[in-house]
Amino acid sequence: MRIKFISQKLLITAIAAVALPLVVQADDKKPRAKVDASKLPPASDKESVTYTGDIKAILDKSCTKCHGTEKQKGKLRLDSLADTLKGGADGKVLEPGKSAESPLVANIACIGDEDDWMPPKDNKANIPPLTPAQVGLIRAWIDQGAK
Ligand code: HEC
Repeated sequence: MRIKFISQKLLITAIAAVALPLVVQADDKKPRAKVDASKLPPASDKESVTYTGDIKAILDKSCTKCHGTEKQKGKLRLDSLADTLKGGADGKVLEPGKSAESPLVANIACIGDEDDWMPPKDNKANIPPLTPAQVGLIRAWIDQGAK
C-alpha cells in the first residue's frame, strides 16, 4: 500500500513536471519579431496628422475589409481611432510617439516576418501593399501622438 502510494505520487509529480512547462509555454504570447527600423520608410514631415483627417481613409481602403465591421482578424479593428489604439489579440499594435517601435508599422512596411505583413501577401481581395508615402504618413501620425 505504502509503496503504491509513493509511486502514485511520483507519477503525478512526473506528469506535472512534463505537462506544466507545456501549459506555460502555450500560454505565453508569441514574441513580436524585432525589426530593423532602418529599413522603414521615413516619417512624413506633414504636420497635424490625425486619424480622421489623414489615416482613416488609408485604413478603410486597405485594412478594414479584414479589420472592421465584418471581420476582425487577429481581434483587431482599425475602423475607429479608439479600436485602433486598443489593439488586437496580442495587445497594442502601436505606441504613440514611437512609430519605429510600433508593430503595425513593421507590418505595413512589410519588413520582418513575412507572415506579419499587412495586408497579407496574396490576399484574396487583391489589396496591394501600402506605398512608402502612406507608411510615412502613418509613421508621422504615430510620432505625433496618434490623435
Ligand atoms: C485580407 C485580410 C487582411 C487585410 C486586408 C489586412 N489584414 Fe491585418 N491581419 C489579417 C490576419 C489574417 C491577421 C492575423 C491574425 C492572427 O494571426 O491571429 C492580421 C493581423 C494584423 C495585425 C496584428 C499583428 C500582430 O502582430 O499583432 C495588425 C497590426 C494588422 N493586421 C494590421 C493591418 C493593417 C494596418 C492593414 C491594412 C494596411 C491590414 N492589417 C490589412 C488579415 C488582414
